[in-house]
Formats: sequence, structure tokens, C-alpha cells
Amino acid sequence: MNKAKRKAVIAGNWKMNKTPAEAKELITAIAPLVKDAGCEVVACVPYVDIAAAQEAAKGTNIHIGAENCHWEKSGAFTGEISAEMLKACGVEYVITGHSERRTYFGDTDVTVQKRTRAALDAGLTVIVCVGEYLEQREQGITGELVALQTKIALGGVTKEELSRIIIAYEPVWAIGTGRTATAAQANEVCAIIRGVIAELYDADAAEAVTIQYGGSMNAGNAAELVAQPDVDGGLIGGASLKPADFAAIVEAATKG
Ligand code: PGA
Repeated sequence: MNKAKRKAVIAGNWKMNKTPAEAKELITAIAPLVKDAGCEVVACVPYVDIAAAQEAAKGTNIHIGAENCHWEKSGAFTGEISAEMLKACGVEYVITGHSERRTYFGDTDVTVQKRTRAALDAGLTVIVCVGEYLEQREQGITGELVALQTKIALGGVTKEELSRIIIAYEPVWAIGTGRTATAAQANEVCAIIRGVIAELYDADAAEAVTIQYGGSMNAGNAAELVAQPDVDGGLIGGASLKPADFAAIVEAATKG
């Protein structure tokens, strides 16, 4: 697989952190540290921070994303935000299928597929998260599970649309735990996902698709992870809230 054919993407996932004023501060602190990045830099922020983050990111190379979206354009869905609304706010990226959404808010492979579909239709680039629980890894079904999650999420996605899809492999046991997958484990599953893309589409599509690793990626372990042949960057939780750490990960991905 030719890594040179794809651009690494480092995306922060701020989760439920930062007020608008704090978001402005954080983007302003990160911007000068990542200005020479050789990878795509994204900050996925809480809905209420989008305007402030965007204002602070103006004229920088930081792209703003959201953390979820609903599949309908509008309607009686109290508390939800549509992909169309995000697009209208100038958002470029959105995460779907994060394990916290799946675990705490009832997202399923089918709703992840619907959210992904809606995000593509709205013109967004989608970071689709897949990953196994520890029990599933111990059962030896990681590959099968992640392959199935990927296949369902991509149901109805055309090869052309795949240029706006990023897959993030995030083992649930590694998220926010400080327990990172080894570089070999991360690469193995990212390679399985790439194989699924080859099977669903073709070899060219598989070679072009960006596949991130996520789960306790930090300034210390990023270089080894992103140097793996099938790992094209990362989805970063905790470390994305610390400007120097996030910048160090961006630098590691730039060196790739
Ligand atoms: P973490 O989160 O880096 O804090 O483990 C990653 C994620 O949930 O995307």
C-alpha cells in the first residue's frame, strides 16, 4: 500500500469540553503551533463552540468539525442537530459512530449508517468511528466486528463519496484509558479495514482512503503509531485539549 497517496488527518475530538470563550482560547493557542503542518488539522468541537472556534480558526489551517449529526434535515427531534444545520454553519467535518455515542446514547450500526449518509448528502466530510470492546478483542472477533461495522456504515456510499470518508479505528478499551493499542495492533486492524474497502470498492479506493487510529494517542506514542503503513493519522481526545501535545501529534503525522 502506498502511503504517499493519502493525506494524514489529525482530528481533535473535544467531547463535552470547553465553553465558547475557552474554545476561542484553545484554537488561538493551537494555531501558531500547527501552522506548518503537513497533514490536515481538524478540531471537532461541541455544537455551542462551533461559531467561536470558527472565528478563531479564520485564516489558519485548522478545519472545524462537529461530533455528531442527526440523519433527518429537520423535524421533531428535540436536542438533535442536522447535518444541513452544520453545513449552514460552515462546518466541514463531522464524527459519526463514536463509541461514546454507541455506548451511552444508543447509536447502532444502522443509525451510524443513516448519520453518515446524511452528512455526505449535506456535503460534509465524515469521520466514521469503528472499534471493539475489550471482551470482543479477547474473544478474537475484532477483525470480523470492525469489518461489519465498516460495511454497515458505508452502505450506499459510492466510490466518489469515499473521498469524503475517513475511518477512525478506535478500540474502546483504549479510549480515555491511557492504554493505547500497540502500533502493531493499530496497524493490523487499520489494514483489515483497508481490505474491507478494497472488497467493497476496489484497490484504488483502498489505497486512497484515510484510516486513523484513536485511543489514548498522545505526544509520546503518536510517532510510532502514525509511522505504521496503514495508519493515516489519528482521532485525538484528551491530548487535543492540550496545545503542545496536540501540536506534537500533528508534527509526528507531518513526518509520518
Ligand atoms: P482519547 O479519545 O484520545 O482521550 O483516548 C479518543 C477518542 O475518543 O476519539
